[in-house]
Amino acid sequence: MAPTLWLLLATATLLTAAPPSCGAGAGQCPSDTPCCSQYGQCGVGAFCLQGCDPLASFSLQSCVPMPVCKSGSFALASLDRVASISDFLGDPTKADFVAQGTPLSYQNGTLLTMPKNSVGTVLSWTRYMWYGKVSAAMRSSRGQGVVTSFMYRLSLSLLTSSTMSDVHDEVDWEFVGNDLQQAQSNFYWQAVLNCTSLSVSHLTPDTNSGNHSISDSFATTHTYTIDWSPEVLKWDIDGQTVRTLNKVDTYNATTGNFQYPQTPSRIQFSLWPGGLASNAPGTIKWAGGEIDWNSQDIQKYSYDFAFLESVNIECYGPPPGATVQGQTSYVWLDNKGLNTSIAIKDDKTIISSLAATGTNLTAGGTAANSNIQTQTVQNVPGQGSVAGSSAQGSQGGTSSFSGSSSGSGSASGSSSASGSTEAQNGFNQGKSLATRTVLHPGVLFFIASITFILN
Ligand SMILES: *[C@@H]1O[C@H](CO)[C@@H](O)[C@H](O)[C@H]1NC(C)=O
Ligand SMILES: *[C@@H]1O[C@H](CO)[C@@H](O)[C@H](O)[C@H]1NC(C)=O
Ligand SMILES: *[C@@H]1O[C@H](CO)[C@@H](O)[C@H](O)[C@H]1NC(C)=O
Ligand SMILES: *[C@@H]1O[C@H](CO)[C@@H](O)[C@H](O)[C@H]1NC(C)=O
Ligand SMILES: *[C@@H]1O[C@H](CO)[C@@H](O)[C@H](O)[C@H]1NC(C)=O
Ligand SMILES: *[C@@H]1O[C@H](CO)[C@@H](O)[C@H](O)[C@H]1NC(C)=O
Repeated sequence: MAPTLWLLLATATLLTAAPPSCGAGAGQCPSDTPCCSQYGQCGVGAFCLQGCDPLASFSLQSCVPMPVCKSGSFALASLDRVASISDFLGDPTKADFVAQGTPLSYQNGTLLTMPKNSVGTVLSWTRYMWYGKVSAAMRSSRGQGVVTSFMYRLSLSLLTSSTMSDVHDEVDWEFVGNDLQQAQSNFYWQAVLNCTSLSVSHLTPDTNSGNHSISDSFATTHTYTIDWSPEVLKWDIDGQTVRTLNKVDTYNATTGNFQYPQTPSRIQFSLWPGGLASNAPGTIKWAGGEIDWNSQDIQKYSYDFAFLESVNIECYGPPPGATVQGQTSYVWLDNKGLNTSIAIKDDKTIISSLAATGTNLTAGGTAANSNIQTQTVQNVPGQGSVAGSSAQGSQGGTSSFSGSSSGSGSASGSSSASGSTEAQNGFNQGKSLATRTVLHPGVLFFIASITFILN
């Protein structure tokens, strides 16, 4: 596991023993905390929902099935349909987005804020998309060391050789705060970046990444689109296609696989500190340098921010030849991580409490009576455990959206963010960054976001 991750997690878990780690060489989770989060830690509850890695989890069934894509337009003017990760039990009819960090309502959209010393904010759609077109009207953050990203992220890791790997399919739009005239596009297939040896000679190591000129991404709202179909992937800005990737060009003759994103994806929006001093030097350089916690926006508003105005998602139907046995959920059939590894079924996607897992959706009873749980286990990725308390975990200290509707985007909105340390925000956005950096030390163009990976 990446040292960066551990540094941050060490802070995040001061009050509790570190949970078991998973993925990236750490192996699978144990049976009592079977779900591997996208940050490489084992737990139950929210660990088994979004971002749960089926291969690094105890079994392929440990993660809760993924809710299928459903087209929709989402105005982000209110946070009514945004749930805190510590309150969300997997029901996509109850919330459109799940948040970690501190989103704030502002004008007719939502600010993704990053208060001083925090790891920023992530919004994840509560469903998955297996091909479709997603557009977002948004404005980036500004200043060195701040990265705004808009990406799909998969909840999948693959078994490569004999060790667990945390590789993922991923498609991104990314914005680096010190270069407001450029948007970056990226894709990964199981985190593979280097396409030089693919059958098509025009694919170079740079092929995964693209730069696209735009007018001031901080001052101007642009619509960024990722149009993902089984055979072709397109990136659009304001309705103009600026980049196209054909699946046929990603063929690896050695394996017979197309190194093309092909499994159900989450849609995430995140603002995170690529320039955090504890990140790898290559990451910091890519982010434009070490983050400036005394930036003009932090001085004025007490946080850096990106602005998300609206999101439009158009689902494409199941790909030809897909295994369709229902219409509710995407379910993993095997651990190959390919388009054939998925079936559409009617398996339930909702847990009854944050003590539940994919193999016991009702463990812990209902959220209302789940405070009978006394076990000390992690149930919300990145947060401390809530030993002996309600498994609902709402006292976990993160994402109380108080102050969120003050609407001014000024310091008045920051009450929930003040004192927001990594320990409180909890989640970590450095993992895949670190991974990327290992893949391409010192190279700037390719690093994706979110780690989350915001990921
Ligand atoms: C938000 O307000 C801006 C400026 O008034 C406007 O251009 C935009 O269309 C609005 N967006 C939505 C989703 O209402
Ligand atoms: C990509 O792979 C080729 C051939 O395996 C290798 O020579 C090259 O150094 C690699 N490039 C990067 C950026 O890893
Ligand atoms: C093609 O697959 C082989 C076997 O897994 C791998 O070693 C090689 O790096 C792949 N080629 C590229 C360009 O990723
Ligand atoms: C998976 O990809 C292969 C290779 O392109 C294609 O022939 C097949 O139809 C795809 N299956 C699904 C379910 O997408
Ligand atoms: C689910 O967990 C509860 C304990 O919370 C237990 O009583 C029940 O037997 C479990 N169900 C299964 C199918 O394991
Ligand atoms: C994108 O722009 C950055 C910064 O100007 C540069 O370092 C990088 O090499 C460019 N990437 C590509 C693929 O052109």
